[in-house]
Amino acid sequence: MKTHKLAIIPGDGTGPEVMAEGLKVLKAAANKFGFKLDLHSYDFGGDRYLRTGEVLPASAVDEMRKFQAIYLGAIGHPGVKPGILEKGILLRMRFELDQYINLRPVKLLPNVETPLANKKPADIDYVVVRENSGGAYTGHGGITMKGTPYEVATQEMVYSRHQVERCLRYSFELARRRHSKDNPWRGLKADEKAAGKTAQVTLCGKTNVLTFVFDLWERAFYEVAKDFPEVKTDYCHVDATTMWMIKNPEWFDVIVTENMFGDIITDLGAMTQGGMGVAAGGNINPQGVSMFEPIGGSAPKYTGMGVINPIATILAGGLLLDELGEAKAAAAVEAAVTATTPKMKSQAAGRMGFSTAEIGDLVASAI
Ligand code: IPM
Ligand code: MG
Repeated sequence: MKTHKLAIIPGDGTGPEVMAEGLKVLKAAANKFGFKLDLHSYDFGGDRYLRTGEVLPASAVDEMRKFQAIYLGAIGHPGVKPGILEKGILLRMRFELDQYINLRPVKLLPNVETPLANKKPADIDYVVVRENSGGAYTGHGGITMKGTPYEVATQEMVYSRHQVERCLRYSFELARRRHSKDNPWRGLKADEKAAGKTAQVTLCGKTNVLTFVFDLWERAFYEVAKDFPEVKTDYCHVDATTMWMIKNPEWFDVIVTENMFGDIITDLGAMTQGGMGVAAGGNINPQGVSMFEPIGGSAPKYTGMGVINPIATILAGGLLLDELGEAKAAAAVEAAVTATTPKMKSQAAGRMGFSTAEIGDLVASAI
């Protein structure tokens, strides 16, 4: 029997609560689809930092390389200054493990409330591929003459052809796969015909102003596209993208964009699919160790109350299984969630009609 060795980082606040449900569902999927899970838990997060004074032990990142994937609850602690844990854990893992893809599906599940009027699940079903290794996140720049009236700060959007090309190639492959006949996820796509969708990649950029960086992106985009003749190409400026994500989300299939644009538009996308309670993401290194997480934070004020929605974490577990090659199990997780959301009153914390653990039970039994 195949065994998948996973690092588990429950993290801070409500992270451990949602992680418990994520693991419940992963175990149900393992039983049903005939694989084993070898789980190793790590206490990285705010409490550990306050106790020991170190964000991550020196060996931590190297230790993560032994695993097939990392499953993360949430990082963020009210007693720790913002930025320390995000930079020291989340961003460090992304960079050192070269998780160069941030995969963020935006999909409205049945009976989930969206703030977009008259939009149904068939209308909101696309994936954002956020470049996760470059741009303004690399820390190029600095401050000179600091503390004087003349001080100058820069933070540059840096991209290499290599970074851009691997991200674009991933996006086109994803579009191809989303529409291929033997993709077990395909049957779960909201009524594809109704939405009139074909495989399509939209480059989200700012070619009219960022004329260096997006010149590189745009040229690479159309060159890579030549290898995928069945995939349609489209281009949108980032500001217009936010407009169409609200007005015509059905236009999108795969959106690919640079790091910070992706950070911003995926929060918008998450709200349109029902909020942080249901939005999942993966930090992916297709050749290495990937890390899967709910997009939302640790919601410390709800800790221990059992009111937080575990659906985002459970869906992140589905993405994790898919990356491990367990596509059928991954599709089953999404199907089980799809069977569960119609039973819930709301996706908002405290108003679900069920406790955190009860939702985990519902999804696990649906598997
Ligand atoms: C995200 C978050 C992070 C980011 C923060 C916490 C560093 O906003 O995962 O989208 O900016 O990437
Ligand atoms: Mg963000």
